[in-house]
Amino acid sequence: MFVCLCKAVSDVQLVEIIRSGASTVKQVADSCGAGSGCGACTREIQDMIEDEAGLSSDVDAG
Ligand code: FES
Repeated sequence: MFVCLCKAVSDVQLVEIIRSGASTVKQVADSCGAGSGCGACTREIQDMIEDEAGLSSDVDAG
C-alpha cells in the first residue's frame, strides 16, 4: 500500500530505504521524496523508522 500518496511511495519501498540507512524523516524525503509533499504521511514514516530501529520489535508486521 502507499504510505505517501503525494509521491506514490509504498510501505515496501520505505522499509527498503530505512533499512539502507535513512534514519530520519528528512533522510527518507531526500532519498525518495516521501514526506516532502503535503506532509500528511510524515508521522507514519516516523513510526516506520522507529519500528525498523527495533523500538517496537514485539509488534508483528501485518
Ligand atoms: S502523502 Fe506524503 S507528502 Fe503528502
